[in-house]
Amino acid sequence: MEAILVTGGAGYIGSHACKALAAGGYTPIAFDNLTRGHAEFVRWGPLVMGDILDPRALDEVFSRFRPQAVLHFAGLAYVGESFAEPLNYYRTNTSGMISLLEAMARNGVNKIVFSSSCTTYGLPDQLPIKESAKQAPISPYGRSKLAGEQILKDAAQSSDLRYGIFRYFNACGADSAGDLPERHVPETHLIPLVIDAVKGTAPPLQIFGSDYTTADGTCERDYIHVTDLATAHVDAIGYLGRGPASFELNLGTGQAHSVLQIVSAVERVAGKPVPFAMGARRPGDPPKLVSDPSLARQLLNFIPRNSDLETIIETTWRSR
Ligand code: UFG
Repeated sequence: MEAILVTGGAGYIGSHACKALAAGGYTPIAFDNLTRGHAEFVRWGPLVMGDILDPRALDEVFSRFRPQAVLHFAGLAYVGESFAEPLNYYRTNTSGMISLLEAMARNGVNKIVFSSSCTTYGLPDQLPIKESAKQAPISPYGRSKLAGEQILKDAAQSSDLRYGIFRYFNACGADSAGDLPERHVPETHLIPLVIDAVKGTAPPLQIFGSDYTTADGTCERDYIHVTDLATAHVDAIGYLGRGPASFELNLGTGQAHSVLQIVSAVERVAGKPVPFAMGARRPGDPPKLVSDPSLARQLLNFIPRNSDLETIIETTWRSR
């Protein structure tokens, strides 16, 4: 079976991708330093503990498993934290990309799929957001991811490297068979926090801003189920393997939901009200982000099959 190196394979999206790779007939090799990942999420192939900034650890994993391609999830992904620790973000997300690409070149691997983010678009001029939209991120996190994209493109200019860049919108949900949860430490994501608030395992939800220029005044986002993201990665491996050009694609549904709509959807599943309070805006939150998913559909036949709100909330609910 073809081995695929999955950096960040013990993390939330990376672990779901490992499950999807195994189902697709690949052997996922999870490479993770476990600072944010969880060893118990690695169940569909070996876990190699190591850091993307460590060339020797990378060379070892490449020579031992001979992967055909790399899915690169490893990185730091908290917008707020990136303002407090920008150098840490650039070291991990940006220098990490350089280190990984150098190791791939040394070991003769020329296919990579990179986890980027809709946050690289910053405050978009036009909605829905197309891949051709201006990228002007408004946080160190977003800039560290955009730099990763640019490094990939420049590296591909001077070598036979082929890449896929995925810009995720709001990743959410959990494995429908219950094999993997949505778990982040610390938890800052809306859907788990709403569920924990109604279960009473977290304080009442604070809604960050109710005076946005959106339909109900709360922020709107494009929520995409992690299983749909995972499927797209397996399809991307197949696509790059067939030899066509590199690509950059949004991964979203094309539909936006407000914070209050998420609260109502959780109330429908819970059968009781969510305790919440309206609070101040959170710095750096764009009012509305929604993808134009048509290019992903065209290129990879990407059809999000698990991203209706009920499935997202039910699968997250079971995992909390
Ligand atoms: N929100 C609240 N209260 C909370 C948490 C979130 O009202 O306690 C609101 C936010 O203001 C935002 C929405 O819920 O409007 C979603 O917030 P999340 O923190 O769940 O997600 P973000 O849209 O801020 O960020 C997510 C990922 C980032 C990624 C970003 C891209 O967490 O890693 O999408 O826009 F960079």
